Amino acid sequence: MKGYYLTTPIYYATGEPHIGHAYTTFLADTIARYRRQAGEKVRFLTGTDEHGQKIQEEAARRDMEPLELCDQMAERFRAAWDRMDISYDRFIRTTEQEHVAIVRSFLTRLHERGLIYEDFYTGWYCVHEERYWTKKDLVDGENCPDCGRPVREIEEKNYFFRMSRFQADLIRHIEENPDWIVPEMRRNEVLGFLQNPLSDLSISRPRTRLKWGVPLPFDQDHVTYVWVDALINYVTASEAITPDAHPDEQGFTDPAGSWWPASLHIIGKDILTTHAVYWPTLLMGVGLPLPEKILAHGWWVVGEAKMSKSLGNVVDPLALEEEFGKDAVRWYLVREMPTGHDASYTPERFLARYEELANILGNLASRVISMVERYREGIVPSARADGLHEVEARTVHRYEDAMESLRIHEALGGAMELAREANGYVENREPWAQAKDPTRADDLDETLATLIHTLTILAALLFPAMPTKMGELSERLGSGAAPPTLAELATLEVGGRTVQQGPPLFPRVLPGS
Ligand code: MSP
Repeated sequence: MKGYYLTTPIYYATGEPHIGHAYTTFLADTIARYRRQAGEKVRFLTGTDEHGQKIQEEAARRDMEPLELCDQMAERFRAAWDRMDISYDRFIRTTEQEHVAIVRSFLTRLHERGLIYEDFYTGWYCVHEERYWTKKDLVDGENCPDCGRPVREIEEKNYFFRMSRFQADLIRHIEENPDWIVPEMRRNEVLGFLQNPLSDLSISRPRTRLKWGVPLPFDQDHVTYVWVDALINYVTASEAITPDAHPDEQGFTDPAGSWWPASLHIIGKDILTTHAVYWPTLLMGVGLPLPEKILAHGWWVVGEAKMSKSLGNVVDPLALEEEFGKDAVRWYLVREMPTGHDASYTPERFLARYEELANILGNLASRVISMVERYREGIVPSARADGLHEVEARTVHRYEDAMESLRIHEALGGAMELAREANGYVENREPWAQAKDPTRADDLDETLATLIHTLTILAALLFPAMPTKMGELSERLGSGAAPPTLAELATLEVGGRTVQQGPPLFPRVLPGS
């Protein structure tokens, strides 16, 4: 059993991390932590995409060497993820020697298998999106249909990958594996795209036009198309192929013992074609197995508008982190966006989600812990703790089901519902009244034990999304910094534990307000 290998896209080393990048990364981190908590061996990969025209031009604009820019931006991304508690196991940079060597053996193998040929290419190129368009795709005859920027007309010699040969195999794979691309609407989108004949894929750029890339192993005057270079990162980091591999090396035919194939590629819907068409056909070309699943999430817009530098509405996750703390940002993004669909960022929604943490979860934790301290000297009574048994069991079951089906927002929403129910239970049981009546001591014990039991479950369920705060909560509940696993929850005993109050987990009076 190789374990669970999951990946984020590698981010272009041209701009600062924004909430779009943060969302993909938080989603991946939540899933990675959930899997580890379940005892699985996990490999979580993220990194930066550092070749191509976009990088070359941005470096020139800043009067820097491309590598200097990449060094700087890779550090920015890494620092941002460290600050946000992202538990990646490997941070890849496509300028690493190891990766460059593997791109070259990957291409040599395609070449030796007769899957690459030379031809002339005429078309329109969008530097921002790093992709070609045909005349009919263009908006107003001159602009990129994706980003609206002017395209450039280009005629040049390119090398092509015989992608068209794999069209039928790809369609069959998608049809035979209905969950290979989730959610379903994205799968349908790819199947729709594949209804038209698939053309071959240009995989190179002449060095006269683009210097910043991996030279083709069979023609040094051309560099590898950045998307081909970038996609291969997933194989590089899987350690299926050694950098000095001969293209007939075993790793290409039998990656057993490595992390390949990926269990899950998490991507945004805008890069679906590259991941669900280019990538699997390239893998078929070299003979490697396909990734097991692709999750294409939706797009964050700001209010009603697309988030973009030119509109000046880019939301900086680090600024939100500074004000509200990392777990609040993680919570907002992952909880708010229905996995797979679009969502709109607004400061009002952010605050509403923050208040959910403060008023429902934070408030529950603080009032329960303080009652155990006040009425039972901080020791959880060894009494029946099953006052919320049914709703707990239902929540854990639904949580697991939603996490396994990658409906992450639903898993988190369900846990918050349990916290709501627990608040209702406090109101019904009125522990303050039970405390006043010595004949009701057993009832009070049961109320408190039940509530600590529920809170311990909540810390466990919410830990993958909010590791810092839920680690803290778990400690305050006397469960140690690592909350129990889902399997352990079934036999959870809380009697005898010592609880300890601390400052509010999610302070209600917000800094700066
Ligand atoms: N470098 C390529 C990926 C190569 S993977 C082999 C790339 N980089 S990117 O930096 O432009 O975007 C990376 C990811 O961020 C994509 O999954 C994209 O969907 C996501 N997002 C960028 N803006 C976004 C939003 N506004 N909302 C949600 N996600 C968005 O593409």
